[in-house]
Amino acid sequence: MENIKRIADDKLFKWMIDIRREIHQWPEKAFKEHRTSELISKRLKEIGIEHRTGVAKTGILGRLKTDKKAPTVALRADMDALPMHEDTGLPFASKVPGVMHACGHDGHVAILLGAAKLLKASPPKGNVVFIFQPAEEAGGGAKPMIEEGVLKGVDIIFGGHIETHYQVGEIAIKRGVHTAYTDSFDIEITGRGGHAARPHEAVDSVVIASHLITHLQAIVSRELDPLYPSVITIGYMQAGTVSNAIADKAILQGTIRTIETSVRAQIVDKIKNTASSLSTLHNAKIDVGINPGYPPVINSDREFKFAWDTAERLFGEKRVISIPHPSLGGEDFAYFTQKIPGCFVRFGAAKDGCEYIASHSSQFDFDEEALRVGAVYLSELVRDAVEKLK
Ligand code: NI
Repeated sequence: MENIKRIADDKLFKWMIDIRREIHQWPEKAFKEHRTSELISKRLKEIGIEHRTGVAKTGILGRLKTDKKAPTVALRADMDALPMHEDTGLPFASKVPGVMHACGHDGHVAILLGAAKLLKASPPKGNVVFIFQPAEEAGGGAKPMIEEGVLKGVDIIFGGHIETHYQVGEIAIKRGVHTAYTDSFDIEITGRGGHAARPHEAVDSVVIASHLITHLQAIVSRELDPLYPSVITIGYMQAGTVSNAIADKAILQGTIRTIETSVRAQIVDKIKNTASSLSTLHNAKIDVGINPGYPPVINSDREFKFAWDTAERLFGEKRVISIPHPSLGGEDFAYFTQKIPGCFVRFGAAKDGCEYIASHSSQFDFDEEALRVGAVYLSELVRDAVEKLK
């Protein structure tokens, strides 16, 4: 790590920590990252990087131009927080009730600003585009940013995510398919309400919902080839208002995670068939809505190799980890890799005492040394990549 500290000294490290903590205290949800956006713009001005604000509402596009004819590499950070209450007890914990940076996007912004500062101080032999993207957790902010032209003239793109399953100084990378399709569904079961003591006069939406939940779980465990990964999770259910009445309506919401397009289609068919059969069986109406989510992030071979080689050069081969399987998590960086070649990596950020606290948990935190690692890694990756692209 001595070489990393030589590139990003303690002064820069502290600058990034301050940014991260400021954003952490004032988390903002998807497309509402106004304060975060202002802070980024202020810092980019301080560094001297020209940029456009208000891209896809709250996003920012920064540019470091060196040579028109040289290749252009984009780096991307997401900016949004989650709608959950923070329970870390940190001195810089969220000051906004019900909103928290529980996925490390506060760190991603600090990392990208750190990388921008390093690259501005010692420009690479190519152009760099800095994409600060809103709404990764919900709303897919990458898409409108692309529609507003952030990839124009860009050859390749890199991004990364803080990952507490790995130690600081470790970089984990997956060749090829890295994340999953993340479709979601809403199911509304309409029965007939009635008195709790006279079920024969009613159609109980709660009992039908219970059957439906177990049937949906059996799709993955009994009807699909186990060698192709998939998950159905129901994360929300709501029915009834009082203990002595039969509920007329039940609502289920969940997510479908798949890697293969054929499995994705099969699951949707099977959910619809199950709902339709149960509605006949129980004499209820069941409406199923499927909402397409993010596509998978696909790390292209050449950019995977670029990312790998820079990690190996900086951290040594033992600290570069090949991720063996795709994750069933989602990541809207996928929209970028649909357009141009790129690679998305994981920055090790495990924090002592937080071994069992996952991201998206109200107690999530990470080792801030990962900020320094991330900034050095992304800036050096750009330097290496523009040389190789020439
Ligand atoms: Ni995230």
